[in-house]
Amino acid sequence: MTAIDQGFAQDRPSGMLDWLLSFRRTMARADNGVSASRAIPAQPPLLLDTPVQPGFRPTPQQVQDNDPRPLSMGAMAAPIKPISLRRDSIYNAFNTAMPVSDRHGLAGRNSELERLVEAIVVQRKHAVIFGTRGSGKTSLARVFGDLADEAGCIALYGSASGDADFDSLFRPFLTELPMSAAGQERARKLMNEPLDVTRLAALLVEDVKQRSILILDEYDRVKSDEAKSDVATLLKLLTDIHSPVQVVLVGIAGDVDGLIAAHPSLRRHIAPQRVAAIPKPELERLLLSCAANAALHLDPDALDALAGAAMGSPYHARLFGMQAALITEAGGRDRMTLSDVDHGLASALEDWAEMSGATHALFRRVLWDATTSRRMIALAGVAASQMSTISFDRLVRLGDEVLGGGSVNQQLAADAMRRLEPALTAMPGGELFMFEDTLAPQFLLLMAKQPVAAAPPPPTPAEEMRAMLKGVDGL
Ligand SMILES: Nc1ncnc2c1ncn2[C@@H]1O[C@H](COP(=O)(O)OP(=O)(O)O)[C@@H](O)[C@H]1O
Ligand SMILES: [Mg+2]
Repeated sequence: MTAIDQGFAQDRPSGMLDWLLSFRRTMARADNGVSASRAIPAQPPLLLDTPVQPGFRPTPQQVQDNDPRPLSMGAMAAPIKPISLRRDSIYNAFNTAMPVSDRHGLAGRNSELERLVEAIVVQRKHAVIFGTRGSGKTSLARVFGDLADEAGCIALYGSASGDADFDSLFRPFLTELPMSAAGQERARKLMNEPLDVTRLAALLVEDVKQRSILILDEYDRVKSDEAKSDVATLLKLLTDIHSPVQVVLVGIAGDVDGLIAAHPSLRRHIAPQRVAAIPKPELERLLLSCAANAALHLDPDALDALAGAAMGSPYHARLFGMQAALITEAGGRDRMTLSDVDHGLASALEDWAEMSGATHALFRRVLWDATTSRRMIALAGVAASQMSTISFDRLVRLGDEVLGGGSVNQQLAADAMRRLEPALTAMPGGELFMFEDTLAPQFLLLMAKQPVAAAPPPPTPAEEMRAMLKGVDGL
């Protein structure tokens, strides 16, 4: 599959850890010694150009030099932890930042792949791949693209940005599409003119000479309603005139409507592909292979706890696995225990709290205040991880099935929905809700499992400000 460089930054689920990861990797690259003899006379070299052996301090010769000293770890007042190759291999093995590109690395998605091939390659439908952040949409789309290539299609992959209009969504594909000579000439002319739906549809239908699939990732970021409506029109036109080009839209959403406002006549021609929770045994297989790559063994109860906490999300499985593996490594062991997992989950939660302060503070407050509906609130997290979306009705039904208790669930579900509301966004239609931070449900459950704190959570900045305003105009 060909990836189109649209010049947009890839917005992967990332954070401190991934930043650290890339930092360590860059350090490790510097270790290769490639830059050992590189000397830039006017300026001392930057830290990343300084060769540093993993696990060792700078050699005495480096430190004794009277030449201007490069900014290096040796020059720091307090030495930081030596860089360990073992940790580097843990970051690599459990990497949460890179989508899977090899089908052998894709856990638990065989039926999704089969369905996509059948719908897009065989039945020539367009498709919408949707799910939460970190559920594996990009990974699925990329591996599907490779399968489509093997089936004789040309799969092109691009990624959208928030300010994209119709032109910028599709123009990058033009130069890569397999076109007749006349088509290439036409495409060249289009380079100097705005690209509209009719022109693009005509070009795709008349001049593309091989089955092609345009995969447009991060489509949820597109803000312009006009662009989205143009895309829907393009899909309809391509369908009506039996185009050799199919479009696959990929993005965060709870359903097809969350990604594209499709007219009923178009709906029949779009294959919806939810990227759902991965079954636990498959997630365990994924964790075992990550651990094997990091030369670690997993105790069965540690594996069970990791896969359980991830609740079907490959991103969380890798993140939790990585944190637990770092605890194992810090203890100088190569077998991960349940206690390592407990500590790893706690540090994953700490990192998330740092990055998602407002949501964390809200969950803390909600779990503290909601004495009777704590279970229902935790169930909302579980439901969101399994179904992407929650609603009052869904919680009542699940409450009856999972918690028992009968009619009290109506009141508990209403209370849970009301308390969680600031962290939720309504889906089109207004009945279903997703957590705005779609990575949050797993952390909500981790928090709900913690013992209830003895003291109430500290006031949020908003609460502090409200206290300061006390006495103003009746407040
Ligand atoms: N089926 C899978 N098997 C193994 N790892 C996966 C799978 N799906 C996703 N991952 C991993 O989970 C993380 C998030 O995947 P990604 O495809 O970027 O998710 P999304 O596009 O939905 O945000 C990446 O580290 C990726 O390697
Ligand atoms: Mg993605």
